[in-house]
Amino acid sequence: MSLRFDDRVVIVTGAGNGLGKSHALDFARRGAKVVVNDLGGGIAGEGASKSVAQGVVDEIKAAGGEAVANTDSVEDGDKVVQTALDAYGRIDVVVNNAGVLRDASFAKMADADWDIIYRVHLYGAYKVTKAAWPHMRNANYGRIVMTTSVAGIYGNFGQANYAAAKLGLFGLAQTLAIEGASKNILCNTVAPTAGSRLTATVLPKEVLEALKPEYVTPAVVLLGHESCPVSGKLFEVGGGWVSQTRWEQTQGVFFRDDFSAEDLRAKWAEATSFENARHASKISESKTGLEERLGRKLELAPQKT
Ligand SMILES: NC(=O)c1ccc[n+]([C@@H]2O[C@H](COP(=O)([O-])OP(=O)(O)OC[C@H]3O[C@@H](n4cnc5c(N)ncnc54)[C@H](O)[C@@H]3O)[C@@H](O)[C@H]2O)c1
Repeated sequence: MSLRFDDRVVIVTGAGNGLGKSHALDFARRGAKVVVNDLGGGIAGEGASKSVAQGVVDEIKAAGGEAVANTDSVEDGDKVVQTALDAYGRIDVVVNNAGVLRDASFAKMADADWDIIYRVHLYGAYKVTKAAWPHMRNANYGRIVMTTSVAGIYGNFGQANYAAAKLGLFGLAQTLAIEGASKNILCNTVAPTAGSRLTATVLPKEVLEALKPEYVTPAVVLLGHESCPVSGKLFEVGGGWVSQTRWEQTQGVFFRDDFSAEDLRAKWAEATSFENARHASKISESKTGLEERLGRKLELAPQKT
């Protein structure tokens, strides 16, 4: 059965180009009412143009779909959400995808390069999601997809700003998955690899052509659908490859008494051996080793508010 989005309202940020555009077109083909958000600036965050988002809206409408443009920065997430409410009266899906790059080695990185990357990627996703959140809670329904990067998961030379903001999105997503669970709000994260204007400067032409944004979109559409099977998970997606990534923890070592850095050095191989590794998916599971050592359960959750 095809995955339909009839009567669903989907916000895709940064939907004027690349991945976001591909996502928006596919959601619209599947019956969604789409808010096409895009500031319309350059890859480093310079400038703005209203025609970029409108161009995608025109394309969706020409194909018989339903969409509305929003040209605010994601930093004004409440305005992006307001566009959805004004046009369609609800929000079912948020795909946080907008992004820019300001690559520089850490030694050469200016504060402005750090700030804009944080503001567009992490603060922008926070603002859009924060504005959508109460509407999703009231509707007892929501699907959120964050767009991270392998630069955040593994680190990448020249992308300290981007890596920090991008992995921050995964931390945000994991907590939203926990806090949204009781309200049927699911939140997952994709780390895409695709040919786009962002990657045109770093990937050879033939590789760019093999990495069509359309090869990332199916994962985003499934994670945005009512039948989404998971929450709080991370997926690496690109070029027709879809994979899940998770944390891995060694069994670790126990010291029964006071111990020193020298004692730890002596047991380093054992502490860091991934033989019989654990794959905790929540804090309580990650603390199993510590609880064994202490002989008691640890409650690390803060008071619920
Ligand atoms: N292409 C890849 O291989 C790749 C890899 C890892 C992560 N990503 C992430 O995927 C997302 C999409 O990237 P892409 O490759 O399609 O790039 P892209 O440049 O083609 O698209 C990004 C879009 O975001 C828009 N945008 C930028 N700042 C904005 C703002 N403040 N408010 C609203 N819109 C804004 C841009 O105008 C642009 O249309 C980004 O978050 C990027 O970091 C891409």
